[in-house]
Amino acid sequence: MNDIEEIRKSLLLEAENSDNPSNVLKDPRLKKLYARIPTLPNQEKAEFGKFLNSLKQELAEAIEKRRKELLNSDVEKLDITAPFDQNQAEPQLFSVEQANLHPLNNEIQKVNQIFRSMGFEAVESRQIDNDFNMFETLNFPKDHPARDDYDTFKTKEGLIPPAHTSTMQNRILKAGKAKLERGENIAVVSYGRVFRNEDIDATHEHTFHQYEGVFVSEKANLSQMLGTLKEFFDTYYGADVKIKTQPAYFPFVEPGLEFMIEKPKAIGGKEGEWLEMLGCGMIHQNVLKKAGIDPTKYQGFAWGGGFERLVMLKYGITDIRYFESTKLDFLRSFK
Ligand code: FA5
Repeated sequence: MNDIEEIRKSLLLEAENSDNPSNVLKDPRLKKLYARIPTLPNQEKAEFGKFLNSLKQELAEAIEKRRKELLNSDVEKLDITAPFDQNQAEPQLFSVEQANLHPLNNEIQKVNQIFRSMGFEAVESRQIDNDFNMFETLNFPKDHPARDDYDTFKTKEGLIPPAHTSTMQNRILKAGKAKLERGENIAVVSYGRVFRNEDIDATHEHTFHQYEGVFVSEKANLSQMLGTLKEFFDTYYGADVKIKTQPAYFPFVEPGLEFMIEKPKAIGGKEGEWLEMLGCGMIHQNVLKKAGIDPTKYQGFAWGGGFERLVMLKYGITDIRYFESTKLDFLRSFK
């Protein structure tokens, strides 16, 4: 009987000290005690049954006592009463704060407006896509290491939260093909949320936004692209922005470029402070072909940049994580 007494004491101790005291009723040792009953000789069965009943009673009392203790402990209590006197003659009103758009949505509207004034349509990108739009139409061969630069997530069904807005290119090109045949150009910007398997820091988020441009015509060329981008940055930052490019590799453009601007003085920049703003280049022939556009007749350029970094630079925001942080001080400063 010694071991039984030990178990009894230890179960009671457990109930008295637990944060979830009723868990003690699920203790396997209790189950084992009950399992003993059928193994006992008849004369001992009654006595053991009595012992178990009184143990059950003791545990129930210990659990109840502990519950009360926890309720009265110094856990912060929830005050569900109204913060004013309901019965006073002139009821106090809560002041209702005027809501405003999230700063990113505000800036998305401004950016779209600038591109619209240059003749571009604006479409929101999709937040769930597939391998076809994420890689295949963008000239990433299957199993090609370039896919690793766009490490994102995948559902069991093979759906992909896109790692860039370039997933819209094939859709934009296909939808615009008829325009080309009528002698018009394709000029579309797409913007929206993208997702990457990323280590987060002040300039890297796993969920952020991009804006992307696609332009196709019979004579589209790099100097038109640089002119379009310079015009955009001049208008957005309200300054005469210096630009430069350097070669870069993206499978869906040839040649591919990294586009840099000298941080304008108007927003705290110094001479020679160059910042990489986006990737761009002439749309690869294979990308045009995948959309049924004849690359011997038409050419295009495309670019894609990070939205948060564009906005951070304009307002001197030091940490990209503020955008998704629901920090009220931050959000209110954009009213
Ligand atoms: C792309 O995503 C290409 N699709 C861009 C492109 C489009 C090239 C069309 C050619 C033609 P990249 O991975 O470099 O490229 O990302 C583009 C921009 O997104 C970067 O310049 C940066 O501003 C932003 N960006 C990338 N990763 C992050 C991140 N983790 N957090 C915040 N911004 C990011």
